[in-house]
Amino acid sequence: MGEACRRAMELLLAIADAYGYGKLIKIRSAHISGISYKNIGDSGLEFIRDLAESGGFVRVKATMNPCGFDLDKPWLFDVDEEFYKKQMEIVRLLKLMGVEETLTCTPYYAGNNPREGDHIAWAESSAVIYSNSVLGAYTDREGGPSALAAALTGRAALTPAHTDEGRMPEVKVKVHYKPRDYADWGLLGYVVGMREPRLIPLLEGVKAGSRDELKYLSAGFGASSSAPMFWLKRGEGCEGGVIEVDVSEVKSVREKWSLTRRPTVVFIGCPHCSLKELRSIAEELKEKRVRRDVKLLISTSRSVYERAVKEGVEEVIRRSGGLLVKDTCLIVSPMRLSKSDVILTDSAKTAHYAQTMTRAMIALGGRRRCLREAVES
Ligand code: F3S
Repeated sequence: MGEACRRAMELLLAIADAYGYGKLIKIRSAHISGISYKNIGDSGLEFIRDLAESGGFVRVKATMNPCGFDLDKPWLFDVDEEFYKKQMEIVRLLKLMGVEETLTCTPYYAGNNPREGDHIAWAESSAVIYSNSVLGAYTDREGGPSALAAALTGRAALTPAHTDEGRMPEVKVKVHYKPRDYADWGLLGYVVGMREPRLIPLLEGVKAGSRDELKYLSAGFGASSSAPMFWLKRGEGCEGGVIEVDVSEVKSVREKWSLTRRPTVVFIGCPHCSLKELRSIAEELKEKRVRRDVKLLISTSRSVYERAVKEGVEEVIRRSGGLLVKDTCLIVSPMRLSKSDVILTDSAKTAHYAQTMTRAMIALGGRRRCLREAVES
């Protein structure tokens, strides 16, 4: 099956051996992260080039995570010429190998829809947690290289996340907190993940939310935990210990990210916004004007963006002065942010990563608050 496939197989077998199973398992799809040149640099680019030039081609449906900028508006992201060229080369090589240019962390809105019980090989923690916990698929938390290797072979390393025993809940978490908006859902996931970051939790006391709410729960959880999933309900219960998460615990994390100065950047769309979210953002922004001293950045996938353009939703956001972008996000773009910047976001995941990757001040607020702070009063 060629040199690229041989190398990919070797990589996957090394992982399977490390887990003690020594076996590969057939998969239905792959989702590949490590797309942004900011994250993978020259060595990542060379790894992808080697596989492409050795004749690599995908054997299952494979989609791409976001890259360093919106391919139609690179100037919004402080991209220099070298970054631009190398990023475009990464995307070109992946496309050459048959990976779809979805450039989103919500592949499930872009045609990569696993069914319950499907074995898949997905990278991108928020999408992994969502596909395991909400869609009922089976995937480990692949890295960019192993997800690409899986795409090229149609196989993933057999690991505990692909077995029913390996996915049993390991700790019961009694939740005494009612999330009211997306920021709360993300924060709840983040706090649960922080408490027992290696264990699969069974959440008790959490009303199953909408798909979008669960998307934020998954992203927050994935940012602080290394477990592949959570359970929301499970008949037979859980044999592990019990911990409790209450309002005060959630509040203390939220306080760490409170807004004390006017934001210079308001970021919404981590994970990428659904069309439903964009419609409601447009509704809020109708006949309003984004403040001159604020950058309102809203990110989505290109498939959702296209539908937003058709429906006129993109136009409403654009007319207000908001920047609706696709293919990227604040975290994977090389956008320059300084100590004097204040980032306000409604995503616990963005707050978590932004605090380690930038010198800007980070604040977490509900969606309404984010939009209110972004517009002129
Ligand atoms: Fe997606 Fe970027 Fe958040 S890749 S999950 S929007 S950090």
